[in-house]
Amino acid sequence: MNILVVQGGARKKGNTAQVLSLVEQELQKGGHRVTKIYLHGKNMHGCMGCKACKTKPDEIGCVQNDDVLPILQEMLVSDAVIFSSPLYFWGVNAQLKTVIDRMYSLYTGAYTQKHNSLLARKKLALAMTGGAEWLDNAECAFTAFRRMMPYFKTVYGGGLYIGKCTTPEKMAPSVPQQVAQFVQTLVE
Ligand SMILES: Cc1cc2nc3c(=O)[nH]c(=O)nc-3n(C[C@H](O)[C@H](O)[C@H](O)COP(=O)(O)O)c2cc1C
Repeated sequence: MNILVVQGGARKKGNTAQVLSLVEQELQKGGHRVTKIYLHGKNMHGCMGCKACKTKPDEIGCVQNDDVLPILQEMLVSDAVIFSSPLYFWGVNAQLKTVIDRMYSLYTGAYTQKHNSLLARKKLALAMTGGAEWLDNAECAFTAFRRMMPYFKTVYGGGLYIGKCTTPEKMAPSVPQQVAQFVQTLVE
């Protein structure tokens, strides 16, 4: 599979980057082609909600020509996209949220007969790290992510949450196994 990995975490040697490198290794072991995009520092603007994109069902109709456009284009040529971010206040961080909001330009006609998505049938997965446990903490981010699937006509490719993170060196020994399971679910 061609898999796009969107690295939302800014810290290049942080917890999320560490988990992501394990994900990448596991994907490469399985012979998959990985394209990774690091978001922090890119020229990215938030969705304006202008809805100009909704008049263009067959193309990325976003009128903002910044660094998000090539990321959206890369999604269209990928079989699956793994989004990743540290958990920030029960959600994804601003870098990743900017990309997700701009994905608004990838579908048209939701709730109508003309519903079309440029991402139809692709798999979308979410990998996150956080300081606290899953419960009353991380589940809202994954719930929101899963709720996007019908709009994009995509398949939920799985979720990976590594909680109780302190530093990458002190990550639980169970993490590689969790990563392997996540990757297996995504590619099956
Ligand atoms: C702005 C901010 C908000 C955070 N909010 C949460 C949170 O709601 N829940 C949580 O478990 N951890 C939270 N954390 C901790 C990070 O998610 C955690 O340390 C993560 O592993 C950092 O990833 P990184 O090393 O890739 O930056 C927050 C950290 C920051 C800086």
